[in-house]
Amino acid sequence: MRNFSRLIILGVCLVAAWHGEAGDADEAPMEETERQALYSAIQGLVGNWWNGSDLYPDPCGWTPIQGVSCDLFDGLWYVTTLNVGPVHENSLVCSANPVFTPHVFKLAHLKSLSFFGCFVSPRQNPVLVPPEGWGNLADSLESLEFRSNPGLVGQIPSCFGQLINLQSLVILENGLSGSVPPNIGSLPNLKRLVLRGNSLVGPIPDSFGGLSKLLILDLSSNSLSGPLTQALGGLTSLLKLDLSNNLLEGKLPLELGKLKNLTLLDLRSNKLSGGLTRSLEAMSSLQELILANNPIAGDLRILGWEKLQGLVTLDLSQMGLTGDIPESISKLKKLRFLGLSNNHLGGHISPEMATLPSINALYLNGNNFTGELNFSRWFYGKMERRFGAWDNPGLCYRTESQSTSREPFGVKPCQEQGNVVDEPSSEAKLGGGRMGQSFHFMASSGYSRHVGGYHGLWCPFLVELAMLLLIVLKSY
Ligand SMILES: *[C@@H]1O[C@H](CO)[C@@H](O)[C@H](O)[C@H]1NC(C)=O
Ligand SMILES: *[C@@H]1O[C@H](CO)[C@@H](O)[C@H](O)[C@H]1NC(C)=O
Ligand SMILES: *[C@@H]1O[C@H](CO)[C@@H](O)[C@H](O)[C@H]1NC(C)=O
Ligand SMILES: *[C@@H]1O[C@H](CO)[C@@H](O)[C@H](O)[C@H]1NC(C)=O
Repeated sequence: MRNFSRLIILGVCLVAAWHGEAGDADEAPMEETERQALYSAIQGLVGNWWNGSDLYPDPCGWTPIQGVSCDLFDGLWYVTTLNVGPVHENSLVCSANPVFTPHVFKLAHLKSLSFFGCFVSPRQNPVLVPPEGWGNLADSLESLEFRSNPGLVGQIPSCFGQLINLQSLVILENGLSGSVPPNIGSLPNLKRLVLRGNSLVGPIPDSFGGLSKLLILDLSSNSLSGPLTQALGGLTSLLKLDLSNNLLEGKLPLELGKLKNLTLLDLRSNKLSGGLTRSLEAMSSLQELILANNPIAGDLRILGWEKLQGLVTLDLSQMGLTGDIPESISKLKKLRFLGLSNNHLGGHISPEMATLPSINALYLNGNNFTGELNFSRWFYGKMERRFGAWDNPGLCYRTESQSTSREPFGVKPCQEQGNVVDEPSSEAKLGGGRMGQSFHFMASSGYSRHVGGYHGLWCPFLVELAMLLLIVLKSY
């Protein structure tokens, strides 16, 4: 790609030279200070980047160093990209004990700087992110990425807030700790902010609400605490918001409804409470809504789910939800994953649920659903273990014919009232040890009147037939 663009530049310059106007770009020099800054930066960082056979390679030459690219500014080559990490076969790979030298801050035309799998020994060789110096890159730097550097420690430098041209800041799975500097919220051009998988603590700064161009915000898998700030409502361009696996608490803010373009909202595994909020209905672009594993509680029916027609994934498991499954959920035509497991939901499960045209996984287990599951054998066959209804003591299933291979896992077949069967199906036994309780429940309720094709009835029927035959024969 780069060689190609160089070819074009070269072509243009050759044409220019033909007209006797300008020099040859390939002959264009690199400033000595720039060259030295680059070599000093990578010398302490990268192991064996140069095999020693020759003079140092020209970093912007015809056989460039992988991971370094350059651009022409006023007839001189400058380094604009420095990627360290095993991306390509002959990339710059970090040495066993890499250092993070301030020489990199002398590369004042750097647009993109990334470190991938570089600082990997948090015990033997923890490396601090330099707290100072970043301001030198403020005029140029657009993308700064640290990925998979568990040995990169310390705090996020607050002077990242000076990198006003930054469009992408990715600090993914490193060893950074401390709180999130509020002045990151004043980076006016930021489109992507990923701080996932560090050890960050403290609140999400209110200042983040000013990131009006932000498209992706991922602060997941840290130890962030405090309430979900209302300021999040200011992120009006946002497409993806992932705050999962933190210690966030309090209510879902009403302001979430302002995020009209949001396609993914993942808040799973926090400590949020206070019930669902109707303002979620306004997030009309949502495709994935994941609130699982929060003590949010409240009634599932509070929302008009049919307003979220784009939903593909809806995971509301383990939230302490009450009520029954509203009809509006069975109107979500694009839904592929529905998780409602481990709540306090009750009532009947409508056969409509099986008619969701795109459904591919449906988890209703660990609730208090009652009555009979009235889905087709075809449905159970299609879903296999991606249909979960176990751990609902008052639930049984009925299908149109006798087949042992297509039963909902961990659910007992329905019995006719009074026709007590001592042996639960082996599947039901696997599903949890509440059989006694559930049979008691069945006996005391009248829901199992539908006889249908239940095979257990054949046995008494045959005995009766035999007795009838005996009587008929005797009377001869
Ligand atoms: C050393 O690198 C140069 C330039 O990249 C290359 O031409 C040469 O084959 C390499 N030598 C060895 C021994 O790898
Ligand atoms: C939301 O998305 C629409 C369509 O993609 C776009 O026109 C609009 O500008 C976006 N809104 C914001 C605030 O970015
Ligand atoms: C389950 O539902 C039944 C009746 O619908 C109710 O009596 C019972 O208290 C519920 N159990 C739990 C644990 O919510
Ligand atoms: C179950 O399905 C059968 C056939 O589709 C229908 O006749 C019956 O009324 C349904 N029962 C319940 C409880 O929905």
